[in-house]
This record gives sequence, structure tokens and C-alpha cells, in this order.
Amino acid sequence: MSYKTLTAGSVPTSNSQALAIEVLVGLSETPKRLASRLFYDDEGSRLFQAITELDEYYLTRSELEIFKESGPELLGHLAGQSLNVVDLGAGDGHKTAVLLDHLRGIGADVRYVPIDISEGAMRTLTESMQRDRPDLEIAGLVSEYFEGIRWLAHESGRNNLVLFLGSNIGNFDRAHARGFLRQLWNALGPGDYVLLGFDLKKDIEALLNAYADPHGVTSAFNLNLLHRLNRELGANFDLDQFRHYGTYNARTGAMESYLVSLVRQTVRIEALQCQFEFQPWEPIHTEYSYKYLESDIESLAAYTGFRILDRRFDPKHWFCSTLWAVEKAG
Ligand code: AVJ
Repeated sequence: MSYKTLTAGSVPTSNSQALAIEVLVGLSETPKRLASRLFYDDEGSRLFQAITELDEYYLTRSELEIFKESGPELLGHLAGQSLNVVDLGAGDGHKTAVLLDHLRGIGADVRYVPIDISEGAMRTLTESMQRDRPDLEIAGLVSEYFEGIRWLAHESGRNNLVLFLGSNIGNFDRAHARGFLRQLWNALGPGDYVLLGFDLKKDIEALLNAYADPHGVTSAFNLNLLHRLNRELGANFDLDQFRHYGTYNARTGAMESYLVSLVRQTVRIEALQCQFEFQPWEPIHTEYSYKYLESDIESLAAYTGFRILDRRFDPKHWFCSTLWAVEKAG
């Protein structure tokens, strides 16, 4: 008699199989949905970067303004520490660079550790960061977020400062935001920190403008998801027969994005050897962007084992950057 225990990841499925299964499940649900994580192929990442430059999309600028104006106060608890700055979803690293400069300015000894599942994104980011800051120690990890963080916990003598910027937490509904942060808490130890950016509740007009831009960039960002399925799964979505629709749900406090089928149509997905029917005006849900009250942020921290050390706002009070400490018996 013998048996063998396989752990997650010991028999990997291919990325395109995993994508195909996720699409099969999402398009089989009612209403249909596709996860917002799927936006970020190379083209999607480029389109999101273009969104951050729109006048209407205030989130990136508000957060950057906080870092520029209040960085030393926000990061004050970290003065003189030796830290891995662990960056989840760094994008082009522009905002992170401002934080790294402030940290070094208050005497912290930092090593920059971006984590990204895309090797291409990792190469671009680390190369440009090293070019601009030749003396910065950089050690990127191509991995899943939690795998990377757990690996760091064993590997190094430094404490970790995990960055989850840009209101990326907003893509989780409130229950899953708790789940995500508790998983982060599990992967971290006493003496570790998290820097989290939250988009705050505000005039609904300003929210709608940020997600329904007249320039069509947000629409292109959303539609690229279908384009990606055409490319990677051999689907035949006709992008002219779907329209981007963004709306604010006041009951849940979230912006919601949809791709709406304009006609009755059938879409074939070669990789799944099956087809999906769409009725006229049938939506595919693609994204939540939850908006927070200060009290929401406090209860989120309290429920997941963190203590809020500092919070800073932009002058309009549209965005909030917070520094959290992991609470754990040593
Ligand atoms: C990158 C998830 C923070 O939700 O505001 C921008 C993505 N979607 N416009 C957001 C996004 C539509 C963005 N996050």
C-alpha cells in the first residue's frame, strides 16, 4: 500500500486551459460574468495606463498627490527600518517610485520586491525602475501574490511593507475584500505592514464621469476582454455588437461595468468547443469598483487583524491612503 500527497501547483494546468474554464463558468452563470482580473493582458494593461491619464479618472492623480504631499507623514512609522517593499499590481511603478524615495528620505533601508504573474510586465517594470534608480536593490518575483509573500517570509530577515495601491481592493466585493486581507494577514508576520489605497464615496456624478469617459478609452479597456478571448481562446466575439456600460449602484456603493449585447447573437469559443447565446440587451458583468467610507476602512481593518497606523487624504477628500500594521502575537 502506498499513497502520495500532491500539493497545489505540483501538476500545473496550462494557463489557457485555466482561462477557458473560467470563461466557461462565467458565461454559464445568470447573469453572465467575466472576472475583472482578465482585463490585464499586455493590451489591457496598456489601456488601463491610458485611463489613468484621463482628466475624468482622478484616482491615480489623487493618490499620487497624497504620496507627494503627505508621503513622509504617511510613512513616518517606518523611519530607519529595513524593509522589503512588496508591490502587488505595480503597473508602471510611477507611484511606487515616489514612496521609495520618501522611504529612503526617512532613513529606511529598502529592497524593492514587485510581484507579478506576468514575466513581461516584470521585466519592463524592473528595467525602468533600475534605470531611474541605479543604486536601488530590486528583486522581483514572478508568482501569484500570496505564494510570493509566503516565500519572502521565510527567505529574508527584513520586515515587509506590502503595497496594494490604486484602490485595487475595490475590485473585491466587501466579503471578498475581507477574505483577501485575511489571506494577506496569514502570509505576513508581526512587524509587517500594508499600505492600502481606497477610493472614497463622493458625488456620484464624479464617479460616473471617471468610468464612462467620452474618449472611449474605458470602453476600449472593457471590450479588450472580448478581444482577448478571441485571440487566446479562438472565440468570435464581434466587438461592434457589444457596448460598454458603467453605472453606480448606490445600494452596494460600487461602480459596476458591463458589456451589453446589442443584438441576439451566438458566439463560438473554439477552445471550449461550444457556443453561447446572447439576447438583445443581455449584459456580461465585468467589474466592480467598490467605494469606501472611512468607517468601512476601519471595520475592514478590525475584521482582518490589522491596526491602522496612519491615514492621509487628498485636498478634495476623494481618495484615502492608509498604513496598516499586522497585529499578531510575536
Ligand atoms: C485598477 C481596479 C483600480 O476599478 O478604478 C478603471 C480599473 N476600471 N476604469 C478601477 C478601472 C475602469 C481600476 N482599478
